[in-house]
Amino acid sequence: MDDPDGYFGERVAARYDETSAVMFEPRMLDPAVDFLAGLAGDGRALELGVGTGRVALPLSRRGVPVHGVDLSRAMVRRLRAKPGGDAVGVTIGDFATTRVDGTFSLAYLVFNTINNLTTQAAQVACFRNVAAHLEPGGCFVIEVGVPELRKLPPGQNVVPFQVSPTGWAYDVYDVATQSMSSNYVEVVDGRCEFTSIPFRYVWPAELDLMAELAGMRLRERWEDWTRAPFTSESGRHVSVWEKPAA
Ligand SMILES: C[S@@+](CC[C@H](N)C(=O)[O-])C[C@H]1O[C@@H](n2cnc3c(N)ncnc32)[C@H](O)[C@@H]1O
Repeated sequence: MDDPDGYFGERVAARYDETSAVMFEPRMLDPAVDFLAGLAGDGRALELGVGTGRVALPLSRRGVPVHGVDLSRAMVRRLRAKPGGDAVGVTIGDFATTRVDGTFSLAYLVFNTINNLTTQAAQVACFRNVAAHLEPGGCFVIEVGVPELRKLPPGQNVVPFQVSPTGWAYDVYDVATQSMSSNYVEVVDGRCEFTSIPFRYVWPAELDLMAELAGMRLRERWEDWTRAPFTSESGRHVSVWEKPAA
């Protein structure tokens, strides 16, 4: 990947809010903002992978001071152009390692973005980086899917997830390394455009160990932002780890 903006460069950023429109719907967003505002309390919040401000802006409007980190200047330009965009501080950099001034009562990483770190070492570094930013008693929240390996029959490593007259999309898994990619073929003006984005899928229990390595403990795990119970059938989870009070 040559683009310094990573996989969310100008072309993706220009269409991000439109292609993720369902995630901007109040029924999806409001419970997340309620959940995060409750954990932030009177403190500051740090969003890793702040993007175009889908979550940061409504959280900031709720009175929570929010600072974001993101690799992509193109995504952050969209955030800046929105009403209230100048109220959210942003540092450009890799959220696994980038340091920001001050401490936070809350750090959060939503919409599967932990998977954008494509090695276990980078995911562990991210937990350590978060712990270094949290006040004692502060919380780290991750929203991410449970790996869908039950969709893989023996001998198969591809799972299609979208088939339409104008596009196809499929995930490719390497179960030996937990590497995967999401792949998109789109028909644009009669020609096919191909995009492939690498990820590393990660299990809930593995995230708990990463938190332990960073000195944090699991506090809550839910299926979603409304605090529905997390069960063996849950397709995703919202997990909260806490940095011990001093
Ligand atoms: C799926 S978008 C999520 C944006 C926003 N959090 C939301 O919920 O709409 C992922 C964002 O994370 C950023 N990102 C991915 N990997 C990153 C990394 N290692 N360091 C900093 N930002 C990263 C991308 O540039 C993009 O803006």
